[in-house]
Amino acid sequence: MLRDVLIYLSENNAARKFSMHAPGARAMARRFVAGETVDDGINAAKALATAGFGISLDCLGESVKSREEASHAGDTYVELLERIATEMLPDGTPLRDSTNVSLKLTQMGQDIRSDHAHDDQSSPSAPWPRPDNWPIIDRGGYDEAFLRANLGRVLDVAKRHGIFVRFDMESSLYTQRTLDFFQSLWNAGTNNIGVVLQSYLTRTAHDVNSANLQSVRVRICKGAYKEPEPVAYQEKSRVDSNYVQVMQTLLSDGNYPGIATHDEAMIQATKDWAKAKSIPTSAYEFQMLYGVRRDLQNQLLREGDRVRIYVPFGEAWYAYLMRRMAERPANLFFIVNAVLIESPFGGLMGKGKHK
Ligand code: FDA
Repeated sequence: MLRDVLIYLSENNAARKFSMHAPGARAMARRFVAGETVDDGINAAKALATAGFGISLDCLGESVKSREEASHAGDTYVELLERIATEMLPDGTPLRDSTNVSLKLTQMGQDIRSDHAHDDQSSPSAPWPRPDNWPIIDRGGYDEAFLRANLGRVLDVAKRHGIFVRFDMESSLYTQRTLDFFQSLWNAGTNNIGVVLQSYLTRTAHDVNSANLQSVRVRICKGAYKEPEPVAYQEKSRVDSNYVQVMQTLLSDGNYPGIATHDEAMIQATKDWAKAKSIPTSAYEFQMLYGVRRDLQNQLLREGDRVRIYVPFGEAWYAYLMRRMAERPANLFFIVNAVLIESPFGGLMGKGKHK
């Protein structure tokens, strides 16, 4: 119930405006967001890389409705990629050895309607295989040419520097169009890109097979949006069992999958499968979110696993933060208390109890 309310609020404009200007809101966001500027993102990435983690930097933003805003996001990614390509760690190791980027297509223009009727086509000639039972009809109508140009310059810089770009996955309204768009780039020879698939979607086993057949790199996660039946499994046990099944297929037949989860049962299942099939730890990586289960992140690193941290930064932190609350409503208490600790009230649990 609380999860549903938080996910609803994550998409609500009035709540966003109110929350982003509420006193202490920025301080709350800092628990899960590295900061607001490219510098903040780069500094967090350097610290994590020095500790031995891989990083995926994400400049926050989604559901962008204007070309100016989408172009600005494109500019920021170009700047970010140039910085990743030139920055060094204190020991002289290039930052790009450990760091890639993640982005959302609706941040780059996939939600912007076309001005011209003849541009209104969201079905490329060679689409990603669509499952027969997928009930969502793509409403189409976005300016694909704009998205292609805006993202294209980002992908060009990434390619020039040999940096991998992951397309995050958004709600099921965007699944097919995201995969179709990905497929068109892939077919045209852009191969430093990868997708995200979500184990709560009933179509995901199908998509994992399509990805594996083409050696497309997949990040598998459970999924962070509110999705209806029959598009998505509703029970946690079903989401989890599907996660284990597709994780096994990815480890056995996929191309360097990212196993994105903080769920210890999923992590153990991954380690067990890798061991049983003699799959080396260099053939996959665990991925976790900045600020979530740092104990587990460090433990996996100590055990010799590869761990990549997804590091978000930027001013558009509201929707991201609300989804993190929805995943674990106890975070509400955790971060409110963290803010109060800095205040004259000294926190609900007393000063200094939460680090
Ligand atoms: P689950 O939700 O079952 O949580 C297991 C345990 O993990 C909890 O009991 C708690 O201990 C801990 N935990 C989980 N979330 C927490 C939080 N926010 N705060 C504190 N503790 C938490 N989704 C999506 O739809 N599209 C995407 O592109 C991505 N990308 C992505 C990248 C990476 C690197 C990660 C780790 C996750 C995503 N996600 C995502 C989010 C994902 O779909 C999912 O919502 C969260 O990872 C939570 O699911 P878990 O697998 O952690 O399990």
